[in-house]
Amino acid sequence: CHEKKTYRIGVSQCSQDDWRAKMNDEINREIMFHPEATVEIRSADDSNEKQISDIRYFKDNGFDIIIAAPNEADAITPIIKEVYESGTPVIIFDRNINGDSYTAYLGVDNFGIGKSAAHYGRHLIGKGGKVIEIYGLAGSTPAKERHDGFIEGATEEGISVIASAYGNWNYDDAASVCDSMFTVCKDIDLIYAHNDRMAIAASEMAKKHGLDIKVIGIDAAPEIGIKAVADSVIDATFLYPTEGYRVIRTALAILKGEPYERVSTFPISSPVDISNADILLLQNESLKEDSAKIKTLKSQVDDFWNKHSAQTSLFYAAIAI
Ligand code: FRU
Repeated sequence: CHEKKTYRIGVSQCSQDDWRAKMNDEINREIMFHPEATVEIRSADDSNEKQISDIRYFKDNGFDIIIAAPNEADAITPIIKEVYESGTPVIIFDRNINGDSYTAYLGVDNFGIGKSAAHYGRHLIGKGGKVIEIYGLAGSTPAKERHDGFIEGATEEGISVIASAYGNWNYDDAASVCDSMFTVCKDIDLIYAHNDRMAIAASEMAKKHGLDIKVIGIDAAPEIGIKAVADSVIDATFLYPTEGYRVIRTALAILKGEPYERVSTFPISSPVDISNADILLLQNESLKEDSAKIKTLKSQVDDFWNKHSAQTSLFYAAIAI
């Protein structure tokens, strides 16, 4: 009887939120089709220290590959470099590290999304419009890229960013900076928030202050961002694909010595607004139904094989007597 190799994959998520929940779901679903692999997902809950210890846990426990979305590049780069240089393959996705001490990187064109948001914003408010930007976490790379892209687009379009504030990717911080900003500054045409949670917070604060401001976010996770567009809480959001399937398939290619792309940046910058939000929500409902069916089917197949192998062993036990 030959020993079957099982690959252990460790995934270190920087946060726990709607967008990551969708991605973790995709990861768990993809793994169902690869009986040769198991996955453990840990969330650092936005803490650099926790993420360092999660990554160290995977390394110390001999995981075959580590996949990570680094909370902040400066803080997480050293541990990633250490793991990579020790010979354990590392995949970085979504948020990047400094340098390229990784086996593969999978990301999305955040600069392009920022730039498209500026073009879209000009559509909403016209040339000369005034924008406030709600920034993600200062040290996480998508925030910087979404900012740079927006600034380039805004210059081309003739709209101006009059102030930026840190919302750190979360609702509460965004709500509190908007609350103070809207108290002193009322002449604002557009809020550009680096994700939907912060966009929703900005929209609610604008309402509280009696201001009529257009709001754009990023992510388009169905239950939060797309729903907020469909409910007219925000005006638009940009798709930020989660790519859980692709990350796992890349990990398995690396582990099995098959070809893979070392750096891949998904080129997407599609807006979701009132014209397509409903149809996307509908599609999401049928996707959810299909994936529930796949789960049921998988557990039925597992049950069948468990019974079958129990019967087979009984059979061999019987003929051995
Ligand atoms: C989720 C998130 C998203 C954002 C991404 C950037 O944890 O905050 O809202 O698009 O991370 O890395």
